[in-house]
Amino acid sequence: EQIDWDAEAAEKGGYDTYMLKEIYEQPVALTNTLIGRLHDETGEVNLDIDLDPSSFKRISIIACGTAYYAGLVGEYLIEQLARIPVEVDVASEYRYRDPLVSKDTLAIVISQSGETIDTLEALREAKRGGARTLGIINAKGSSMTRELDDTLYIHAGPEIGVASTKAYTSMVGAMLMLALWLARARGTLTQEAGKELLHAARALPRLVEEALEPARVERIKAVAEKYAHSRDYLFLGRGVNAPTALEGALKLKEISYIHAEGYAAGEMKHGPIALIDAALPVVVVATESRLLEKTISNVQEVRARGGQVILLLSDGDTENAQHADEVLYVPRSHEMVSPVVNVVALQLLSYFTAAHLGRDVDKPRNLAKSVTVE
Ligand code: G6P
Repeated sequence: EQIDWDAEAAEKGGYDTYMLKEIYEQPVALTNTLIGRLHDETGEVNLDIDLDPSSFKRISIIACGTAYYAGLVGEYLIEQLARIPVEVDVASEYRYRDPLVSKDTLAIVISQSGETIDTLEALREAKRGGARTLGIINAKGSSMTRELDDTLYIHAGPEIGVASTKAYTSMVGAMLMLALWLARARGTLTQEAGKELLHAARALPRLVEEALEPARVERIKAVAEKYAHSRDYLFLGRGVNAPTALEGALKLKEISYIHAEGYAAGEMKHGPIALIDAALPVVVVATESRLLEKTISNVQEVRARGGQVILLLSDGDTENAQHADEVLYVPRSHEMVSPVVNVVALQLLSYFTAAHLGRDVDKPRNLAKSVTVE
């Protein structure tokens, strides 16, 4: 018994849980995702895949759970940067909806485990339709990798906590590299814009490290504990950070069992605004972006109805702090890479909420790390 306990404690590297350890591993995981693939001097992206970037006209991204949200960020990045039409599906829908697939389609599956049955079956469906297939995968040699035309490994290292953290940020990092690679091949970015984004991507490990600074973590913990007894939570974000809001809500419900919804902030007026009262904490991703002003007006709508606003703001944005009940400052990053930096605060918010409520953070009830049955 004693020996097992010591072995497990050692595996957790001094952290209370695998999840917290994996949250802190993100700078290293991201370094491993990006390393050797982005070249500063030339602006080149080298993914070491056989895929011909001019061999398809559209992209279908298919995944489940957290990986699906990485896919939504990917859709935004690929369409913005490489100007290729992208659709994103949850795998369990894709596999049964008789999707329109052809030789012009690149199907991208995203999976930490490479074993999720719905994603594997969706991959087979895409192949039957003649699509070229690419996987964004963590687990080496997993079932999907044996059936994919190309695999872009994220190299995040083993993820034990059921709620995905470092795999998510590495998946988004991989989507960013893929978008840059496609943009370069298709000539949709100026040399200058390409280099700027490449630098922004290379800065991610350092920015995530900054997002994990003790003072920020303490602040997030205090806010988490203050609102831990809320019955519901709402998460809002726009643009490339709309999926950040969805992922923030998913993380919270998975490990704390608090009901949480994520919404694109502009959609709030079409329903969720009815939920707002003084008992509802509303987390809003309001970091530097082209849409920041619009996000802030969404925030004002929440406040006017008495909602408790927890704002994620970029470092130095003291002006918008007046619109918040609580401010969580996050490191400034280029808008296109900001989902990776911003989600870290939401992972920690969920973590400390669940820990405060005494939940089994690593093994939440009813969930499995990898779902290999339908
Ligand atoms: C399960 C896990 C989730 C994960 C999803 C997809 O539901 O609990 O955390 O996001 O499967 O897993 P995959 O291994 O395909 O990324």
